[in-house]
Order: sequence, then C-alpha cells, then structure tokens
Amino acid sequence: MTDQDVFAAEREQIFDHSWLYIGHETELVKPNDYATRTVAGRPLIFARDAKGKTRVWVNSCPHRGAMLCRDPKGNARFLTCFYHGWTFNTSGEPVSIPSEEGYSPDFERIGLAAPAKVDSYRGFVFVSFDPDIVDLPTYLAGATEYLDLVSDQSEVGMRVLPGTHEYSVKANWKLLAENSYDGYHLVSTHQRYLEMITAAHGKIDVSAGSAGARAINLGGGHAVIAATPASGALFGRPLSEAAKSEKAERFQRFREMYGDAWVDRMGGSRNMVIFPNLVVIDLVMGVVIRRIEPVSPDYMEVSAWHLAPPEEGEELHKQRLDNFLTFWGPGGLASPDDVEALETCQRSYAARGELPWSDISRGMHTPLKSVGGEYQMRTWWGRWHELITGEALPEEPQAPLEDFFAGQRSPKQTSETVQAK
Ligand code: FES
Ligand SMILES: [Fe+2]
Repeated sequence: MTDQDVFAAEREQIFDHSWLYIGHETELVKPNDYATRTVAGRPLIFARDAKGKTRVWVNSCPHRGAMLCRDPKGNARFLTCFYHGWTFNTSGEPVSIPSEEGYSPDFERIGLAAPAKVDSYRGFVFVSFDPDIVDLPTYLAGATEYLDLVSDQSEVGMRVLPGTHEYSVKANWKLLAENSYDGYHLVSTHQRYLEMITAAHGKIDVSAGSAGARAINLGGGHAVIAATPASGALFGRPLSEAAKSEKAERFQRFREMYGDAWVDRMGGSRNMVIFPNLVVIDLVMGVVIRRIEPVSPDYMEVSAWHLAPPEEGEELHKQRLDNFLTFWGPGGLASPDDVEALETCQRSYAARGELPWSDISRGMHTPLKSVGGEYQMRTWWGRWHELITGEALPEEPQAPLEDFFAGQRSPKQTSETVQAK
C-alpha cells in the first residue's frame, strides 16, 4: 500500500499484462469524436474514426513526442500537433507534414502508435499493452455474464450519459478496488445516506438487502457481490406509482425477450470488480462504470460514468440522475464517506512497522460466501498475488450457488448473438 517498488512491480506485472478499460463505445457518438484518457500512466486517445470504427491511439506525436490532443474531448477530422504541425486523420494516418522537402526522398511518413490490443465486449472497450495476452472474452471469464446483465437493460442499447465524475483519492488504488464491493461497511460508513433514505421511505429493512445475496468468484481475479431484487428497497428515493408501473412494464417486455430467470436476475443488484481496476456497479437504480487509475502508491485518480437506458421516461431518468449525484457523486452522500475511509487507512499505514497487515479473512470459515464477508476481495488479491509473486494460492471452497444466480437468458439469446448485434 505504501511501497514504491511494489507500485513499480504492479505497473509491469499487472497493468502491462491485463486488459484495461478505456471507455464505452456510446461515449463517441459521431464519427471523429474523441476523448483523451490516461490508462496505466499512458496518455491515450479514444476515438471514432471517419468511418465509425472505434480506435485507440497513443496521445503522443510520432515526430518528437508532443501531446497531440490536449483537450479532454472533442470532434476533429484532423489532429494537428502544435509543436511542428504534423497532421493525422482519426484513422491514425499521417496526412501532412510541413516543409516535407526537408526529409530524404525515401522518407516514410509515420502514423500514430497504438496499444498492442484493442477490443470490446458489449460496448465496453478495453486495451492491452501485451501483444500475447489472451483474447478479451477469455480474460473477462465469468464477468461477461454480469456485463450482459447490465447491457441487456435497454431495448435500444444502454448508453453512457454525457459528463464524467472525476475525483482523486490520497490513498492506494487497491483500497478502492476493495471498497467497491465491500458489503460490510454500508451501515457504519454510510449512516447519513441510510438516514436520508429512511426519512424518505418511512422505514427500511437493512437485512432485506443481504438476505440471499452472495459473493461470487468469476475467475481471473474478477468477483461480484450480487443480490436479489429485495435489495432494491434499500436505496433511492420513493418513486411515483406512474414511474413504478413504467418500470414494471419495461421489465415485463424484457421477460418476453429474455425469459423469467434472466430478468429476475437483472432486477437484483451487483457490485463487480473486473481485475485489476474496472468497477461496474448496478445499484441504486443506475449503472456506474468506475475506472481507477493508480498514480503513485498513495494517490489515485477515479473516473465514473453512468450507463442508462435512453428510452426511459422523464421521472425515472431524473431519479437516476439524482441517485448518480446524491449517492455516487464526488460531492454526494456516499462517495465522500468512502474517500474519507480510504484516506484515513492510507495515513495510518505510516504505522506499518507496528501494524504491518490488513485483515480480509472475514467469511473464510464457511463455504457460504455472503456479501458481508471478504471473499470477493480475497479473489482479487489471489490474482494480484499470482501476478506479483508467481505463486497461485489454493482456491477457497465455495458453496454451490442458489438457482437464482444461475438463471440464463432464454435460449434464443446467447452472449454471442447479443454481442454480434
Ligand atoms: S513533435 Fe509533433 S510535429 Fe514535432
Ligand atoms: Fe461505500
């Protein structure tokens, strides 16, 4: 959590050999839209080219390295380097070089550099700097099913809403991975939020959320805490009867498309961490995509986006935005509590000589992995340990999952056919 050498090893052994999330295809609406992002320390351009294809370029001019795009986002047919004026199109091809006669006659123009691999799953775009990495679906393992559960919640395709939450935390990046599916801290850390919700609803039953909820190992270091629809009652402000029935009707249409087992699962909640640094949380009537960018052992930057069904009516949409702000926002009623918790952990690690370890053994004594335990974190750390030390830890026995968590889409719709659309 504090060591510069460990941080350097994480960069080389984890981040240089993983698939890393850069953005969602729906953020790039028109041809030639682009956004600049830093992924594992590298400045990248996330773009849609003139023909509509999603592209990722290194945001550095192949002449002498100046940063090509310095705006967070924009739309441009041509990207011109401000240093000496080399110009590229969004397909990465060099289109003009000032005073080109100064080069030898056989000089070949250099195009933009790119990460070794770029691929997407259900609109989630990932890059890898390792040319030999396994393909993206293999890497994602069981996480694909949970990406399907969030991506299927629209009849016209889920879209990322305009705008990004950006904040930083003076803490080690791994603390936010742990926190993003820590079911144990809800009642103590987020007391104020629960008070607000209790006041709005009259009363809430906190135990309803964890009954039948499970921590699930998805393979590859990915894990999720998933709950049944009962957990929904815990979060968000009350909806009007009209909004409730609009939501119910939409879910009824989903039943016809996907079958009951899948839609029952969709109606529950899920907090997932895709190893190493992508968080997808479907809770409080909204889907949050959160990307953690480690900067130094004691500092991280966080970006968060909201994935929503565009066909939704005004009240449901307003409620969604309200939740995004009041619960998830950097100035909301939950995220600042978490930031404070993580920053105090980091400050206290100054006493690591006296207290060298954190404890994440909660729930190790039983194969029934509840959301209030720490099995999901041990799954993540098992992969971390393997990549950093080369040693694979033995798997922890896990009780068979209830049928609810095994529900599949009706046979007409497989992951592949949906992906192909
Ligand atoms: S560094 Fe970009 S044109 Fe020279
Ligand atoms: Fe929290």
